[in-house]
Amino acid sequence: MDARSLEESIRKDIENAANDQALEEARIKYLGRRGLVTSLLKNIKDAPPAERPKLGATSNRLKKLAESLIEEKLTVLRAAQPASRFYTPPHDATLPAHDGLTGHRHVLSKVFGEIKDIFVGMGYTLASGPQVELEYYNFQALNFPDEHPSRDEQDTFYITDDMLLRTHTSPVQVRYMEEHKPPLKIIAAGRVFRNESIDPSHAAEFHQVEGLYVDTDVALADLKKDVEIFIQQLFGSKTQVRFRPSFFPFTEPSAEVDMTCFVCRGSGCSVCGKTGWIEIMGSGMVHPNVFRAVGYDPDIYSGFAFGMGVDRVAMIKYGIDDIRLFLGNDLRFLSQF
Ligand code: DAH
Repeated sequence: MDARSLEESIRKDIENAANDQALEEARIKYLGRRGLVTSLLKNIKDAPPAERPKLGATSNRLKKLAESLIEEKLTVLRAAQPASRFYTPPHDATLPAHDGLTGHRHVLSKVFGEIKDIFVGMGYTLASGPQVELEYYNFQALNFPDEHPSRDEQDTFYITDDMLLRTHTSPVQVRYMEEHKPPLKIIAAGRVFRNESIDPSHAAEFHQVEGLYVDTDVALADLKKDVEIFIQQLFGSKTQVRFRPSFFPFTEPSAEVDMTCFVCRGSGCSVCGKTGWIEIMGSGMVHPNVFRAVGYDPDIYSGFAFGMGVDRVAMIKYGIDDIRLFLGNDLRFLSQF
């Protein structure tokens, strides 16, 4: 076949191809291993040397022509087909279906659920308060002196002069006592905000659980017992608890609560900074001034309070080393819990 009739036949076959299969047949006919254009190219070496350049140019031109016509025709055929016919994957109806991506509770909700169940089992009921809080409840009624450093704008997000994002859940104590008479035994959980420089152990938004028990004869021993029961239920019955003197404006005396490190069981490791102890919450006996602010007589009533970071508890429980992961929305992290 001479070059001209070969070109005509290429154009005609490709033009007339009505579907993918016909087009593929045309491709094989010209460009396949034994295709007409392919053979032409192969035969160049057998031609007399003088004819080779011309033959080479012609065969290459025909090859390019066939390729580009096929490409064009493919686009035309595809455009004429419904989208569902573009690609029909081979399928095996007996294969199990893919699991869809199922949502589940956030790790912090889970940990709070565990904390809540323990306290509810000990007779506590749930209370809550607003995240946008009055300065009065967040500080003043909790006996913070006017010049206390945490009132400083460095730590607190102020909205107006007397309104702020609560820096802890302790204001819920005051709100609840204003509305209820003792005896009362509550926990309150929620989000708190501090203007912190962010790092693996500091976030500007985190979560706390607050506890409060008020009655006529509440003693420090009651606080120790409830805290110990709670920690041993959450971290195991062998966990030891110790109270370290501390200071909070709204409690007197105040204590920081430590528990034996759950990794080394007290012998000292990298998780507890070689001390064998991990700090878990703040606590104390409710300050008489807090009772006065809510109209309770401190000569009649006594009570204890405690507060802990839910993020911190979750970090200890699951060995998480960066607090920022909780609100980072990374599914690789969240799906592990
Ligand atoms: N509100 C304290 C804080 O954010 C935690 C705290 C300490 C709460 C002692 C209490 C308490 O109720 O008695 O650091």
